[in-house]
Amino acid sequence: MRHFLTLNDLPPRDLQAIVQRAMALKAQPGLAVSQRRKTLGLIFEKASTRTRIAFETAMAQMDGASLFIAAGDSQLGRGEPIEDTARVVSRMVDCVAIRTFDHERLERFAAYSRVPVINALSNDFHPCQLLADIQTWQEHRGDIAGNIVAWIGDGNNVCQSYINAAAAFDFELRVCCPEGFEPNAELLAANDGRVSIVREPGRAVRGAQLVVTDVWASMGQEQESADRNRVFAGFQVNGELMAHAAPDALFMHCLPAHRGEEVSAELLDREDSVVWDEAENRMHTQKALLEYLLAE
Ligand code: CP
Ligand code: NVA
Repeated sequence: MRHFLTLNDLPPRDLQAIVQRAMALKAQPGLAVSQRRKTLGLIFEKASTRTRIAFETAMAQMDGASLFIAAGDSQLGRGEPIEDTARVVSRMVDCVAIRTFDHERLERFAAYSRVPVINALSNDFHPCQLLADIQTWQEHRGDIAGNIVAWIGDGNNVCQSYINAAAAFDFELRVCCPEGFEPNAELLAANDGRVSIVREPGRAVRGAQLVVTDVWASMGQEQESADRNRVFAGFQVNGELMAHAAPDALFMHCLPAHRGEEVSAELLDREDSVVWDEAENRMHTQKALLEYLLAE
């Protein structure tokens, strides 16, 4: 049995196969393996639009069922230990996707789970997002291997999954963030040579084929918003910055976006922005991921 807590949990060839399968399922949804009588538990301790709808729709299209469990409505919200919850829930459902704060909560759940556990976003990683981003790149440009990706903004959960993706899918990643907002130092060191920190946005995007950003204050950091807006002021991705990237560069953002902060309003709706395909591909990749994990 496999869990999907980070991209490192699956061999790169399996990640690639999931992305390929997602593209096939997008072209022909009827190909999906039926998950009749299979159930997916969705335990969410943070808000979500894309991730939740992608999982619920994927299960519905495969004739399975999903159960959405808002943490506040379950006994988790009243202090039932995550290990006990894992033991109980995993005796009933076939797979569990969890969105939470501390990544360690996911690991503790997985340690006591009888069924596969999927990271639907933690403070440290968002691996499902990267499956969709890679699919989106492949649809528009083919293999991402050998390309240069520039991450502009906070060294957050999505950024850290980009670091894992750089290793799994063989691309160069430049992370451009203000001092003090770098990704985890050990993760950076483990990917030295492939991932670098570049402080100046114009330099970071030079020659990059893909430019990516995300909100400056993630869920749980709302009270830091005003300070972060000041610190990140020079890190907006807009038409002017994109002009320094490779001529055919694409722009991605996991969404939700804050127009006028990390991304200009005009850029999101331009031709080089593929954010709407990226959002749709959450559903295709998560369906392919469920097929993969439920087949084991
Ligand atoms: N990108 C993403 O995970 O979106 P949601 O927070 O809406 O699920
Ligand atoms: N970094 C963001 C991603 C949202 C999908 C957050 O954690 O809030």
